[in-house]
Amino acid sequence: MITIAIAKGRMQDSALALLARAGIRVGEDEVNSRRLALMDETGQYRFIFVKPADVPVYVEHGIADCGVVGRDVLLESEADLLLPLDLQIARCRIVVAAADPEAMTKVQGMIRVATKYSQIARAHFGARGIPVEIIQLSGSVELAPALGLADMIVDLVETGQTLRENGLTIVEEIAESTGRLVVNRASYQLKAEEVSRLLDMICRLKQD
Ligand code: PRP
Repeated sequence: MITIAIAKGRMQDSALALLARAGIRVGEDEVNSRRLALMDETGQYRFIFVKPADVPVYVEHGIADCGVVGRDVLLESEADLLLPLDLQIARCRIVVAAADPEAMTKVQGMIRVATKYSQIARAHFGARGIPVEIIQLSGSVELAPALGLADMIVDLVETGQTLRENGLTIVEEIAESTGRLVVNRASYQLKAEEVSRLLDMICRLKQD
């Protein structure tokens, strides 16, 4: 049996849809339940649904053999994982946004950046030699500029609706993010056959 950790939220539906197309299906009632661990219809795959940031943790520790998680989360994580596949699902961008498109040149003194992605933000501004104060938040980051907590944010954008409805515009794009399949290093050796079969099933789909 292979255990696959799936990031709850934006990734979950597209990950399950992709796996279903590859022939790995979970009953509809079970998907709609609030159970956090489910078996597929063949009993060969177990899915666990966890917070995105916890997917690398479960996979690195071998509790899950594989995981499906966004590149945004992997860029923040220091977990040692194999990253064999870009699943090309849940495509979004990691951006710098502000109320004023010229904010980068207008802010006096140290720029305050609110974000869930402190590593990405630090690396981005650090590489450009711009000193910033990182304000770590857990969500609803788009509120921070309007309330005076920060000058800018670094966050994910998919449709752009959240930015628009909170009066923010994109100042810079940092990176693109898509769903990735990650694999535990030991599972890749010890369950080589099962893991290869899973990778093949997904790769075949991508060629269709
Ligand atoms: C993400 C992101 C934005 C929103 C962007 O939040 O942080 O808030 O989605 O999507 P949009 O461009 O389609 O509007 P998420 O839903 O992951 O939840 P969170 O705010 O709790 O992190």
